[in-house]
Amino acid sequence: MLPMLSLNSLLSTRVAAAAGVDPEMRPATKPQFGHFQSNVALRLAKSEGQPPRVVAQRLVERIDLADVCEPLEIAGPGFINFRIRNDVLARVATDLLADPDTGIDRAAKPQTVVIDYSAPNVAKQMHVGHLRSTIIGDCFNRVLSAQGHRVIPQNHIGDWGRQFGMLVEQVLDERLDLDTLDLAGAEELYLRANKRLAADEVFAERARDRVVLLQAGDPETLGIWRRLIQLSQEGFNATYARLGVLLTDADVAGESMYNDLLPQVCADLESRGIATLDDGALVVFVDGLDVPAILRNKNGGYGYDTTDVAAVRYRVDTLGADRIIYVVGTPQALHFQLIFAVARKAGYLPDDVEAIHIGFGQVLGPDGKKFSTREGTAVHLDDLLDEAERHAARPIALAALKYADLSSQLQKDYTFDAERMTATIGNTGPYLQYAHARLSRILRNAAEQGVPVGARVTVLDAPEEQALALLLSRFGETVADVAENLQPHKLCTYLYDLATALSVFYEQCPVLKSEGAVRESRLALCAATRKVLARGLDLLGIEAPENM
Ligand code: ARG
Repeated sequence: MLPMLSLNSLLSTRVAAAAGVDPEMRPATKPQFGHFQSNVALRLAKSEGQPPRVVAQRLVERIDLADVCEPLEIAGPGFINFRIRNDVLARVATDLLADPDTGIDRAAKPQTVVIDYSAPNVAKQMHVGHLRSTIIGDCFNRVLSAQGHRVIPQNHIGDWGRQFGMLVEQVLDERLDLDTLDLAGAEELYLRANKRLAADEVFAERARDRVVLLQAGDPETLGIWRRLIQLSQEGFNATYARLGVLLTDADVAGESMYNDLLPQVCADLESRGIATLDDGALVVFVDGLDVPAILRNKNGGYGYDTTDVAAVRYRVDTLGADRIIYVVGTPQALHFQLIFAVARKAGYLPDDVEAIHIGFGQVLGPDGKKFSTREGTAVHLDDLLDEAERHAARPIALAALKYADLSSQLQKDYTFDAERMTATIGNTGPYLQYAHARLSRILRNAAEQGVPVGARVTVLDAPEEQALALLLSRFGETVADVAENLQPHKLCTYLYDLATALSVFYEQCPVLKSEGAVRESRLALCAATRKVLARGLDLLGIEAPENM
């Protein structure tokens, strides 16, 4: 039997066999045009110098789809319309119900994919930017893992740099017991130290000396530094637990991890003439960019650029990455352009390894400005969650937040509107959860009443049943699209369309109140829909509750 889970690709293959070119199958724009359409005849007509409808007629006679479609139709100037046969749609829905992968195709060539996401900074609480990175990166992790890729998350936390000089000095001055400090406390410490740094030249001097001690491996300094990282990680982990994301301590690969590699990278690039000295600093210029990457400043210090170049090398050589995805706010776009160009030039990033920066827009407050606290500082993630939880129970609040983050194009800013986001109607996470809970209830009621749930979808006479089954068949290709193009909003839109088709189906097609084979089949269709909703929500990192 044919694998029937992706009708789109099946149709594409068969039409391409007849037409000799990619038919670019599209979902039909209106139900009366069937389920899929192609403009292949219009395109061929141009190159052949024939009337499009003539070409379409010739193709329709040649395309071998009788086992899948109703007789093909030619519409308008020469579009070909495809309507899937009911028995085929029923089979697709049945297969989905039985398939442990819910119609998600395993990648033909599984890759090792490194995803750099979350990446908060030590002694600072995560802010909304880190929230978006964490949610989006986690979704990529889930989607790519579902396809059978080997995903290696890398949490590139900011655990190194000049700021540790002032932090350690401040800890020593205040004789702070770090065992009593939490992340919020560490952030206050950071603010106090930062204030002093600006006002007190003696302190600033000491902070600079302390950086040297840290780099030289002074035990007391290292001890305090480590403790600051540890307590920060505890804070990050509390947030991860609250968010229900996949990240663990094993994924932490902070900036400091690359320290030992930095001199080697510099020496390598300098000896090969890729890096040059410019006013005492070691830099790399790349074509098309005005600013160079700074590998070593004139005082001999390494920075953010150097670490990221070393990290690329590590990810390719040591982790074996085929694809590296960075989920970091759009303001860092230039940084990554530079890093990728340097890494390519250096040969650290071979042509067959993809490196991609996925940026994202800002979260805006109700006033349309960058979301910030009354005091004008960046909003902490915990505040956002608290705000969402004022409108709904925790799993729902979380769904609202994640869905709002994933459902519009990533590059766009979006407005944080807790009331709209948590509503159970409209294009929201809770609406999808509600659809899932409703299906769960129907299936529960069936079980209580001793009504059998069919293992197969057998009857698809109503257009609403067909519409639902057709959408179910598109789940796998939607997931594949997100895996390739990294646009989670497409999965959100798909699930929203599915939930909407489901509610139309409920209105038109009685389930428990129908009888016999129709009832069994409709219950099977409900079970398949429930399964796809649950899997889809899981890929977004959203829980699918049984009750709501
Ligand atoms: N810690 C950085 C920040 O908060 C993000 C790091 C992103 N990852 C990277 N490899 N540079 O802005």
